[in-house]
Amino acid sequence: MKIFKNKLELKDFLSKQKKEGKSIGFVPTMGALHEGHLSLVRKAKEKNDISVVSIFVNPTQFDNEEDLLKYPKTFDNDVKLLESVNCDVLFFPSVEEIYKDNIVSNNFNFDGLEHQMEGKFRDGHFDGVGTIVKALFEIVEPNIAYFGKKDFQQLQIIKKLVKKYKIPVKIKGCVIYREDDGLAMSSRNARLTKEHRKTAPFVYKTLKKAKKKFGIKNANELTEWVKKQFKKQVLLELEYFTIADEKTLETATVIESNKKYRAFIAVFAGEIRLIDNIRLK
Ligand code: PAF
Repeated sequence: MKIFKNKLELKDFLSKQKKEGKSIGFVPTMGALHEGHLSLVRKAKEKNDISVVSIFVNPTQFDNEEDLLKYPKTFDNDVKLLESVNCDVLFFPSVEEIYKDNIVSNNFNFDGLEHQMEGKFRDGHFDGVGTIVKALFEIVEPNIAYFGKKDFQQLQIIKKLVKKYKIPVKIKGCVIYREDDGLAMSSRNARLTKEHRKTAPFVYKTLKKAKKKFGIKNANELTEWVKKQFKKQVLLELEYFTIADEKTLETATVIESNKKYRAFIAVFAGEIRLIDNIRLK
């Protein structure tokens, strides 16, 4: 695996590959890789000639200084994992390489997608995501980029970004990878205490139960039911549960048969924030 820290050197290498007619599959990450990330790399390899992964803990998408400082950094292990799936290229820039001395995000208008759910609770988060993803796309110029559906709102926002800025890349949303007990894989899971790790699968269990009740209970009743379940769980604190239109991400009050819906949830397990979602019928 080739490792680049310098964006111009990476650009130069990739442009030579493109001139030879090779396609590029890209997986942007913040490191602390897990099986979910590796599944994206496998997909990138399957469909493209060259797989590129970036590891960059992007400071502008954190609304909480402590979360940024404590974000797990496991570079040596990440390299081993990437080599185990034969990743071709790793881009591992410094903050200066990306932002120079001006660590700020651009302001984006994602047609309202950015104001829903995570946008309400994480100030400026999607401006930060938009800034880094756009910058990475400009450096890597991939044919296809792969994102997990755990961050479903992020996925929709990146699709919007690409459309608005006419960036010639196909965005592929990929299934959520889960631990055996149902907990959605996330780099932040490594920071859960033993007790919180044991309780965390309750999030997905509740989502699955809510999915079964969808259609029997209306959106409001279901939301109230979920809130009640979390009141009984002292170790988990529900931040939001919402049923939203997959396209607009707006909270649904009335369910229309021609639309697709998802249930979205954010929960605190101690100081670790977990998010998850499930497709509803
Ligand atoms: O999902 C992530 O890991 C990050 O938000 C991303 C897309 C790599 C941008 O920093």
